Amino acid sequence: MQRTLQFLGALTAVTAVARILSLARLYFSPSSSSLNRWRHGKEPYALVTGASDGIGLGFVEAIAAQGFNVILLSRNREKLESRRSALQKQYPNLKFEILVFDALKDSYDGIEKLANSISHLNVTILVNNMGGIPFIPGYIQLIETSSSQIDRTIDYNARFLSHLTRYMIPVMAKNGPALMLNVGSAAKHGVPWAAVYSGTKGFVLSFSEALAREFKCNKIPIDVLNLILADVSSSQTPTPVHLLNPAAKDFSKTAVGRLGAAVASGRNTLTPYIPHALLLWVLGFLPESMQVLVLDNMIRDAQKLHEKIFNLKKD
Ligand SMILES: NC(=O)c1ccc[n+]([C@@H]2O[C@H](COP(=O)([O-])OP(=O)(O)OC[C@H]3O[C@@H](n4cnc5c(N)ncnc54)[C@H](OP(=O)(O)O)[C@@H]3O)[C@@H](O)[C@H]2O)c1
Repeated sequence: MQRTLQFLGALTAVTAVARILSLARLYFSPSSSSLNRWRHGKEPYALVTGASDGIGLGFVEAIAAQGFNVILLSRNREKLESRRSALQKQYPNLKFEILVFDALKDSYDGIEKLANSISHLNVTILVNNMGGIPFIPGYIQLIETSSSQIDRTIDYNARFLSHLTRYMIPVMAKNGPALMLNVGSAAKHGVPWAAVYSGTKGFVLSFSEALAREFKCNKIPIDVLNLILADVSSSQTPTPVHLLNPAAKDFSKTAVGRLGAAVASGRNTLTPYIPHALLLWVLGFLPESMQVLVLDNMIRDAQKLHEKIFNLKKD
């Protein structure tokens, strides 16, 4: 009996040490070479959706800083052109292409054409970043949410991502090893006043995990990572920056710096920003009644902040 307990104790200690080492490797590996695994072949490219602003633009900058050419996709041509010329000045040796597509208006047949138009390029990274709550105020009860708002949220976060991913698989498989990075959210846990958005981020998580396993089973050389994040100050939510609410550019740089280590340690999901990881870890320990209390306060505060930022009128 004593020997069994000793053995179990030793096993627990070894497992705990292994987990700590794995976390240390993940969060403290050198970040400037984090994309080396996917930077190969002639002129490697990354395709970033929702690339003209916020976290997406941060990804573009951090990926270009590691020597990748980048294709920027979003809906506003003028904004894309201006981002491209700034990037071109900063990185004269790299190439920046733009794709103009409105995920909420353009026909879904267009997504295949979009993928075909870049199939000749050596795309080794796809960042499915575009997403969020596509209306203001964003935090409303489901009963107050219109049919169109429900559809737009699903289209924006889940439908476009699924179609684009499907069409990009053959392109990226032939260029492998490649990386698919799907930007999820801590909302996957279920955020009150954002039921549909939460659901779509749950979709992104399961979709990513399933695809990661599908590729491993079929020996398709594409790594898949689902990114989990809490609040980030971006163009969609330009909230004051603090420790738990980093600026989009800083968040994206940190996230990109951890991608290589995450894939090397066999993960399919990553919470790259340490304060977010700690927050979610602590929240996960609380009983449901306490979680409801915390979320209730957090979202009511966010609603007030959004009223101020977007000059929303109270009914
Ligand atoms: N910010 C946060 O606190 C937070 C928290 C958790 C998860 N996330 C996730 O992080 C990702 C990025 O969020 P963000 O806050 O950086 O968003 P953002 O600042 O609003 O940026 C959205 C990007 O998507 C583009 N876009 C918007 N509507 C589009 C459409 N219909 N078709 C094509 N492109 C469109 C925008 O460009 P144009 O307007 O120029 O087209 C912009 O480049 C999302 O998946 C979001 O769910 C964010």
